[in-house]
Amino acid sequence: MSTPPRQKRLTPDDITALKGVRPAVCLTAYTTPMTRLLDPHCDLLLVGDSLGMVLYGMETTVGVTVEMMIAHGQAVMRGAAHACVIVDLPFGSYQESKEQAFRTAARIMKETGCDGVKLEGGEEMAETVAFLVSRGVPVFGHVGLMPQQVNTAGGYRSKGHSDKEADKIRRDARAIDQAGAFAIVIEGTVEPLAREITGTLSAATIGIGASPACDGQVLVSDDMLGLFNDFKPRFVKHYADLAAVISQAAEDYAAEVRARSFPAPEHTFQVRPKK
Ligand code: KIV
Repeated sequence: MSTPPRQKRLTPDDITALKGVRPAVCLTAYTTPMTRLLDPHCDLLLVGDSLGMVLYGMETTVGVTVEMMIAHGQAVMRGAAHACVIVDLPFGSYQESKEQAFRTAARIMKETGCDGVKLEGGEEMAETVAFLVSRGVPVFGHVGLMPQQVNTAGGYRSKGHSDKEADKIRRDARAIDQAGAFAIVIEGTVEPLAREITGTLSAATIGIGASPACDGQVLVSDDMLGLFNDFKPRFVKHYADLAAVISQAAEDYAAEVRARSFPAPEHTFQVRPKK
């Protein structure tokens, strides 16, 4: 009997090739069991630095470390059989120089086996993106609202409302596209601008709060599953209410433990009769 061919995961080039064909489906993933559930339905899984807020209770993504990204990147790679897997470069691990960015990206790719890295930034990061791409690192860009810049950007406001801001995002997206990114996240950006940018780039645009005009969509999985309810931005849709399901399960368990109705006989080991 012949062995079935090993299933190949999608590549960054496959994601770019979806542009103009059909929307790319992307979600964040941080752990192996969740990856196994999401992977068959997604084209791309992002090990986002949002994990700092979603899993670790941090206020922003600024405190996330390379070690955290590697541990979760490895966990996701253990569960992914189909989707392209991209790992975020965390704040402070790439902005200093293109050499620093290459060292961090190479370490993450070697230690996780992921397909590429994502970094935030526009014109100021274009040289770095070109440096990485020309040395074998597929880059997923990220423009518009950039959560790693929350401390200088005045919080998490949507972008592109003024002509000045729109022009900056336009230039940022063009610079990262020309530098060779295979795809670019456009976050928290007004629809006409996201539509215009999508129509002018070679890279696939992946929107989060940037309208259906983008070439694909990404959401933080815990947001769309109704697990992370600290706040609900306008662009999040809850496809499930897992927080309520988990609370109810914990309440039912606690009641049964207190009533000594769990564990029941079927959950209990008895001594086997002697032969
Ligand atoms: O960190 C993250 O999860 C992200 C996505 C929301 C795009 O950057």
